[in-house]
Amino acid sequence: MAFKCAVVGAAGGIGQPLSLLLKNDPLVKELSVFDVIPLAAGVAADLSHINTGAKVTSHHGFDGADIRAALTGCDVVVIPAGVPRKPGMTRDDLFKINAGIIKGIAEAVADACPKAMVCVISNPVNSTVPIFAGVLKAKGCFDEKRLFGVSTLDIVRANTFVAELKGLNVTDVNVPVIGGHSGVTIVPLLSRTTPACEFTQEEAEKLTHRIQNAGTEVVEAKAGAGSATLSMAFAGARFANSVMKAMNGEDITECAYVYSSIQDGVSFFSTEISLGKEGISKINPIGKVSDFEQKNIDIATDALKANIAAGENFLSA
Ligand code: NAI
Repeated sequence: MAFKCAVVGAAGGIGQPLSLLLKNDPLVKELSVFDVIPLAAGVAADLSHINTGAKVTSHHGFDGADIRAALTGCDVVVIPAGVPRKPGMTRDDLFKINAGIIKGIAEAVADACPKAMVCVISNPVNSTVPIFAGVLKAKGCFDEKRLFGVSTLDIVRANTFVAELKGLNVTDVNVPVIGGHSGVTIVPLLSRTTPACEFTQEEAEKLTHRIQNAGTEVVEAKAGAGSATLSMAFAGARFANSVMKAMNGEDITECAYVYSSIQDGVSFFSTEISLGKEGISKINPIGKVSDFEQKNIDIATDALKANIAAGENFLSA
């Protein structure tokens, strides 16, 4: 079965290549391209000339009716809407603007496609996902199995960096990355890399630091022109594809930042999750980790408490 998929923020740096990848995904039967700016119509016209199966439709505008029209009937909604970082900014600096954007999009999802699988890319993910959940709860349609903060880029980066260091075929490598999606909340579980790899303490520390700060490498290299877009589009398309494969009955495991009671003290956390026809079928426990990883999990959990509270406080303010 193929699905109707929306990209919200489709005219942006991530939105355009992400829409291209989804237009090329055989599991997408209709691609609904939405952005507040009119460029959405141009992106859709451009994509519509590609001879793949997905039909392309588009909507744009600031009127709430536009986004609701774009979302109606969607099975999967992928959201890269909002402002990205510039050099010197942290993901939390984006909070003020993106929190409001995410709130509006969540209200539209609740009205137009409350049963859709929702994949939130907009930063700071650690806070935007709790905001999204809070809006859906207030609207009486929160389904914790269907809301995902997309942290896939951290896994994609970890796989790449480990393969480079160990001389492995990059497509064979999988490094689970848990916690959240910002600085110290990003916790790679190098001890659980497949195929099994040995790391010295120095290697583990350097790799962990690089994976946690890889987004900043891109922000600095782009020197004010944005943050990761192409690698994020790849990661977002991979995650959306995993969700759709699972909706078709395949057993899929991915890491994602979700509503979870797996870690004491926080209501959102990323671990490996099993995906099924109805979204999350199981949240896997953290499992066995090294002492170094456990220390990083503790640091991440403390930071996440503040990030989640920021999201919740935004809604109650
Ligand atoms: P961009 O500025 O190039 O594009 C954002 C797009 O969102 C623009 O086209 C804008 O018109 C649109 N937009 C703004 N408000 C909207 C609304 N209410 N509804 C629909 N569209 C709206 O930014 P870029 O580089 O594409 O990044 C987007 C977001 O993704 C940022 O918050 C960035 O921090 C985040 N990001 C997340 C990553 C992750 O791993 N989860 C990785 C990289 C970026």
